[in-house]
Amino acid sequence: MSRDKTLYSCAECGGTTPKWLGQCPHCRAWNTLTEALAEPATARNRYGQGHALNAAQPVAPLSAIEASEVARAASGIEELDRVLGGGIVEGGVVLIGGDPGIGKSTLLLQALDALQRAGLPTLYVTGEESGAQVALRSRRLGLEHSQVQVLAETQLEKILATVEATQPAVAVIDSIQTIYSDQLASAPGSVAQVRECAAHLTRAAKGTGVAMVLVGHVTKEGALAGPRVLEHMVDTVLYFEGDTHSNFRLVRAIKNRFGAVNEIGVFAMTERGLRGVSNPSAIFLSQHSEPVPGSCVLVTLEGTRPMLVEIQALVDGGGPSPRRLSVGLERDRLAMLLAVLNRHAGVACGDQDVFVNAVGGVRISEPAADLAVMLSITSSLRSRALPKGFIAFGEVGLAGEVRPAPRGQERLREAAKLGFTVAVIPKANAPRQPIEGLEIHAVERIEEAMSVVRGLG
Ligand code: TYD
Ligand code: MG
Repeated sequence: MSRDKTLYSCAECGGTTPKWLGQCPHCRAWNTLTEALAEPATARNRYGQGHALNAAQPVAPLSAIEASEVARAASGIEELDRVLGGGIVEGGVVLIGGDPGIGKSTLLLQALDALQRAGLPTLYVTGEESGAQVALRSRRLGLEHSQVQVLAETQLEKILATVEATQPAVAVIDSIQTIYSDQLASAPGSVAQVRECAAHLTRAAKGTGVAMVLVGHVTKEGALAGPRVLEHMVDTVLYFEGDTHSNFRLVRAIKNRFGAVNEIGVFAMTERGLRGVSNPSAIFLSQHSEPVPGSCVLVTLEGTRPMLVEIQALVDGGGPSPRRLSVGLERDRLAMLLAVLNRHAGVACGDQDVFVNAVGGVRISEPAADLAVMLSITSSLRSRALPKGFIAFGEVGLAGEVRPAPRGQERLREAAKLGFTVAVIPKANAPRQPIEGLEIHAVERIEEAMSVVRGLG
């Protein structure tokens, strides 16, 4: 409990001090300070609301609270709506992160225009680019008649006032790192500024029902002042992935209070902006006319959709301190798989450099990639290509056992649909009925997988 404090206020200028002084520290007048009772310490919280913070609040049993579905607005950009769990939620706050230049501003401008055309008022706050630059991008996207409202502003208080005054259904803040509040002493872009500004915007969203989308830059290492500290604050966190050199982009939901996580949206960057790819299963395959050593196709499951991703390995040279490098796959897991290969399958690459890459800049975190990684490494080491039309998936444990992957049937069916003909998979994933066009080898151990592959020639 804090007690009310005594304050001294100046009869000349109205300024206050906590201590009695002969001279007013504000206006320098002498003998003008008189004792005045301060406001109760609990009367205002830091956001300036005047209710007592320690008042008891009514509670209700869970069963008495109505469970209501949230109101959503679909943007009509199917791949984006998919990761959002159906659309943007009233009063919801979305954080969208990704490397600079990956397409965040492009996608959000397209999404706002689609919402605006569907009759929802929208506001695009740009802190990085001028209105003219945004207009230039919109022309490129073929949105020259767009009615999206644009505000070029970086000061939080002005942005909040504008949101209040214009009452959009959806507001995009591009980007949160450029926004600053005059109430804080720290520099724009500092963690304190980014966090405070995001907290204010989140409160405004909850208070007004305006859905907010905050854009944040993330560096390759994930180190940045900002978005990472915001993840717990917002309702939904989306990350843009993909190689800026390739045309494909993935948007992944890593947190979603209003939908499934790990759902992904797939886009292709064209000269007229991002286009959704509704059937992405084959985009992460490189086009070899004949099978090459060191390549194995993995059927991975991203969200609700199976996708085929080519895993490439190169085992070469080396020396006393060989390098292990992986792109799109976890490096620690690679070290573990090399140890399992050595111990249980007699495949030793101890003194060789090992490089592993998931084609197309896609990031794979599921352990079901293990078998494909190990088969591509062995294939490179022996300079023997896997058979044409070959796929694999399955987790491999430290004891050399091959463990099942979730939803194996779906993976197999997708592979068959795309014309793959031979599969090495965990025993527990073996389908009861044969799958047309697909020769399935179900294995229990890594050494068994290796001998099956040798037998395939
Ligand atoms: P941008 O949306 O500005 O990225 P971010 O906001 O994440 O920093 O994307 C910029 C890149 O996209 C830039 O390299 C150019 C490219 N681009 C296209 O290829 N086609 C387009 O129609 C547009 C608008 C951008
Ligand atoms: Mg941008």
